Amino acid sequence: MSETQTASSAVKVNPNAPTEETVLSVHHYTDRLFKFRITRPPTFRFRSGEFVMIGLPRENGKPLLRAYSIASPAWDEELEFFSIKVPDGPLTSRLQKIEPGDKVLLGKKPTGTLVHDALTPAKRLYMFSTGTGIAPFASLMRDPETYQKFDEVILTHTCREVAELAYGEELAAALPDDPLCDEHAHKFRLYNSVTRESYARQGRITDLMTTGKLFQDLGVPPLNRETDRVMICGSQDMLADTKALCEKAGLVEGSNASPADFVIEKAFAG
Ligand code: A2P
Repeated sequence: MSETQTASSAVKVNPNAPTEETVLSVHHYTDRLFKFRITRPPTFRFRSGEFVMIGLPRENGKPLLRAYSIASPAWDEELEFFSIKVPDGPLTSRLQKIEPGDKVLLGKKPTGTLVHDALTPAKRLYMFSTGTGIAPFASLMRDPETYQKFDEVILTHTCREVAELAYGEELAAALPDDPLCDEHAHKFRLYNSVTRESYARQGRITDLMTTGKLFQDLGVPPLNRETDRVMICGSQDMLADTKALCEKAGLVEGSNASPADFVIEKAFAG
């Protein structure tokens, strides 16, 4: 066989094709939410707060992939994800059934705007999240760089039901024992609320901001461009309403190319 024949008959390898990773653990919080951890290829690099494509091989045909925020920090040897379960969702209806040892597809190009590079330095960082929108902040709150850049880090998490707050509470409780962030744990505060069940703190984050209750409870002044930076992750409506409040307070939207006062990203939805 000539050299040209060999080349043309060789199987084409797509350098951007997802890698196949192994599920290490799965934890179900509610019938709507679960967390899973997978192996991380040594060559896989990302910035805390970014998202990546995750998926499962299709029985026949192309693999099914969706964007997922990486919930683990950039230094972690494994990758963690926090997912919703949509009963008829093309991916999550199958993904919710994964068990340790199963294979999951991992994209090769993490990206996103909820990263340190997109914000200019300031005193205080707010991370406003609803539902699975907490995932990128689960990454950032466990990254020591977050505490090098900000003196105060406030994570808000609002869910429909009390049981949905468990992941955030678990993360906050673990921070003082975190190998890299333990010494910064005093800078971090979790502020959660619930909208569809009775709970100590109730209401949408937008209402808690508008009434001033959020700032009163935290003992800090209202949003201020001089001192505060904001990251927002939730549904499309939550993003729009929270962004409007940031802009009303005079904060300017930033990006990787042009860092400023606040950044937004849609939470993975199904
Ligand atoms: P609510 O129960 O009042 O709709 P979802 O699961 O639909 O994404 O909602 C997660 C949380 O986000 C819920 O507590 C929900 O409150 C809240 N939420 C929904 N829309 C908005 C919005 N436009 N602004 C602020 N919070 C919102």
